[in-house]
Amino acid sequence: MGVAWCTVFVVLVLKSVVFVDGGSTSSFVRKDEKAIDMPLDSDVFVAPAGYNAPQQVHITQGDHVGKAMIVSWVTMDEPGSNTVYYWSQNSKKKMKAKGMVTTYSFYNYTSGFIHHCNITHLKHDTKYYYMVGIGHTTRTFWFMTPPEVGPDVPYTFGLIGDLGQSYDSNITLTHYEMNPTKGKTVLFVGDLSYADNYPNHDNNRWDSWGRFVERSVAYQPWIWTAGNHELDYAPEIGEEEPFKPFTHRYHVPYKSSQSTAPFWYSIKRASAYIIVLASYSAYGKYTPQYKWLEKELPKVNRTETPWLIVLLHAPWYNSYNYHYMEGESMRVMYEAWFVKYKVDVVFAGHVHAYERSERVSNIAYNIVTGICQPVKDQSAPVYITIGDGGNLEGLANNMTEPQPEYSAYREASFGHATFDIKNRTHAYYGWHRNQDGYAVTADTMWFYNRFWNPENESTST
Ligand SMILES: [Fe+2]
Repeated sequence: MGVAWCTVFVVLVLKSVVFVDGGSTSSFVRKDEKAIDMPLDSDVFVAPAGYNAPQQVHITQGDHVGKAMIVSWVTMDEPGSNTVYYWSQNSKKKMKAKGMVTTYSFYNYTSGFIHHCNITHLKHDTKYYYMVGIGHTTRTFWFMTPPEVGPDVPYTFGLIGDLGQSYDSNITLTHYEMNPTKGKTVLFVGDLSYADNYPNHDNNRWDSWGRFVERSVAYQPWIWTAGNHELDYAPEIGEEEPFKPFTHRYHVPYKSSQSTAPFWYSIKRASAYIIVLASYSAYGKYTPQYKWLEKELPKVNRTETPWLIVLLHAPWYNSYNYHYMEGESMRVMYEAWFVKYKVDVVFAGHVHAYERSERVSNIAYNIVTGICQPVKDQSAPVYITIGDGGNLEGLANNMTEPQPEYSAYREASFGHATFDIKNRTHAYYGWHRNQDGYAVTADTMWFYNRFWNPENESTST
């Protein structure tokens, strides 16, 4: 009898430890140093040698299902060829695809020749080589196409946000590349180059950023989300076309998901359905983005793509004292849909730190009820802020106290994450801080799929 009571007591004590409400703020305190941009003559920015050599090579998915790839590059001396030669690993036969070229000017800057070529009708799960710069200096790269879309296809995504081009940015990218989990595609949550922090938005910093990240994005697709640093809205110098550099440089397959603008769109990749939303385009009722999302969410077939992932820039749940409420009006518009359609996870950036939420929703409020506190909700997504890429603006290290109950873990460090889908029920998520070894995870979570396995993950060990 005594032993039994003792056991009950121990279990109760353990439970109170394991299921304690409120999250944790990491005890790890990063040395507070300013993030400094790498100078333009840094190794990582070196332009490839040779006349009209293609530079800033980058790829992204080119259709809705992963059988196409958009290849982009910049030539500086002359337009040169728009053609891409490509061939699969098992074939010597070179095929070719023809793209287009564009340029733009921004205040006193004129861009190089920006090429985009969508290679279509690719085979799934195949390694392809591709060559650009035909006619002058050629460069050859390779990529893997994803497996055919299906419910139990394992696939690993990397997560990077607010990267910039500081020494810390370089460490983040290296940690992503060296992470033994091996991300196959980056889900990028916005704020790429931070060129707009320079006088007149010095667009040479868009070029240097393109050269900096080429070592990853020429070999695996990065899925683009537009952040506020992509706006480049500068009427004071006569630049009144929002997103001008971004839209000229980075193409996305928005038309294949019936979107009408390149800032919100969706793709399927392996077992994931990824919806990209635009924090800086209109999202109120009757707007194009609203109408698109309203039609889009019911299209997601969880039997085909169990994992429903949303990317956006300004976080809805954020307990740092930075960008307070900036995501709030979008949350008010769309959160009920995310709960209804059981979104698994929402990744955001903007706040230059890391935070993971509990599964919470805050949709009960109306003008009569006054119910405005977030509550635990197993149909709600986990919200993750991964704006910790390391850009020159530095860390967000000032947090609201006490830590709100919805916040499960938060830490003011630079880093990246991986989302490793195992099958239709389980995915393993890990966040890596830059101060640790490449294999070390600082925050982890087993995700249980909201459609196939909607159990409370916090009871797992
Ligand atoms: Fe931002």
